[in-house]
Amino acid sequence: MIYFLIILNLLGSVKFSNLESIYRNCKDALESNNFIDSMYSIQPVPNGTIAGITCSLTAEDEIITEIGNDVEQNKRLTVQSGTLSIKIKYANLTNTELRVLIKSSGICSQQMSLTLRNVHDKFISFTFLDGKVYKLRHFNDGICQCLTSEICDKLQNRMENCKNVGKNQGYSQSYDLSGEISVLPHRLPLIQTRYGDINGGQEYAKHHIGPLSCSMILKLKSPLILNSYCKNYNSSFLNDNDSTTCIKFKTKFVKLKLDYTEKINFTIGKESVFEIHPYVNTSIGKISLCNQDTPTSFTCSSYSRYIYVSLWTTLSNDIEVCEIQNLT
Ligand SMILES: *[C@@H]1O[C@H](CO)[C@@H](O)[C@H](O)[C@H]1NC(C)=O
Ligand SMILES: *[C@@H]1O[C@H](CO)[C@@H](O)[C@H](O)[C@H]1NC(C)=O
Ligand SMILES: *[C@@H]1O[C@H](CO)[C@@H](O)[C@H](O)[C@H]1NC(C)=O
Ligand SMILES: *[C@@H]1O[C@H](CO)[C@@H](O)[C@H](O)[C@H]1NC(C)=O
Ligand SMILES: *[C@@H]1O[C@H](CO)[C@@H](O)[C@H](O)[C@H]1NC(C)=O
Ligand SMILES: *[C@@H]1O[C@H](CO)[C@@H](O)[C@H](O)[C@H]1NC(C)=O
Repeated sequence: MIYFLIILNLLGSVKFSNLESIYRNCKDALESNNFIDSMYSIQPVPNGTIAGITCSLTAEDEIITEIGNDVEQNKRLTVQSGTLSIKIKYANLTNTELRVLIKSSGICSQQMSLTLRNVHDKFISFTFLDGKVYKLRHFNDGICQCLTSEICDKLQNRMENCKNVGKNQGYSQSYDLSGEISVLPHRLPLIQTRYGDINGGQEYAKHHIGPLSCSMILKLKSPLILNSYCKNYNSSFLNDNDSTTCIKFKTKFVKLKLDYTEKINFTIGKESVFEIHPYVNTSIGKISLCNQDTPTSFTCSSYSRYIYVSLWTTLSNDIEVCEIQNLT
């Protein structure tokens, strides 16, 4: 009888595991399902909204979390007078739930395209989840002045602005924009658009707003050693999951570059005494130090794709590092 019940239980759990299982984030969902790419039921906050989120693993061992939105895409948008503001919801999550999910999903990016006809740019603005509001031509995060970064990428100049393809700089400006939105990752996603001077006829806006796409590394890759005089050290010993293989740097200062991960931990040589300062550096060169949780573990903000680490000592010993791990 007991065996029968156990078997029944097993059958039940197998049968319903994909349908009824609910996960906190894509990492949990994929790890519980042999990394099968799929849409999973994700509930970022206990008892909160359960959202359908697309989770996948890339060939580079990155977990991709794709959060869809409720935008009516490519619709011709007009308004009789004043401005038209459109709020954007992501997988029905509240802003708080969205923040929780993003925090465990890595570094995010978002694509959009926007067609504007015979408008004035001063009536066009965009609001992001962190509260930042940018006007069409005033994106000041150092990525591109324009809403989308394609023009800056093409001309390799971060100071470029949106190209007006319309007749004048006043009330007849027109734009055909598409590409990645020019804000630092921690601001995303776009949660509201506002368009004015779109009274119909020749004047309108039309947008396509992509899902929020976040990428998180499953396993930290070997760090890059940035000091030119340290090039002969083999950094793969630092992430080989073996804390007995160490590197002894014969110098008082070492600078490393790692892929972004929210939490990192350092295992250092037993005899070694030195300072560890991990930080992120935004595109405008703004430095944000990671928070020190224990003497060797840190939490970093998702301002950029990379974490830099300064290791230095004023003592006469060497800087010995054995392992650098991401904690989850
Ligand atoms: C979730 O809901 C259940 C029942 O509605 C309640 O007992 C439980 O305390 C709730 N948990 C949280 C974390 O709110
Ligand atoms: C989002 O929530 C609304 C209202 O609760 C519901 O009508 C709608 O079906 C939900 N949409 C999705 C995609 O779950
Ligand atoms: C670095 O060490 C690893 C073993 O941990 C080895 O597989 C790799 O070939 C070495 N790379 C270089 C450039 O020596
Ligand atoms: C790291 O090594 C430990 C044993 O030393 C092992 O239990 C663990 O699974 C390894 N982790 C990875 C990611 O290889
Ligand atoms: C970080 O690494 C150290 C040294 O290996 C270890 O003692 C410590 O438990 C780790 N900390 C965390 C939070 O995993
Ligand atoms: C931060 O990045 C900027 C621009 O890439 C660079 O010039 C600067 O040296 C970096 N600062 C640090 C402390 O790494």
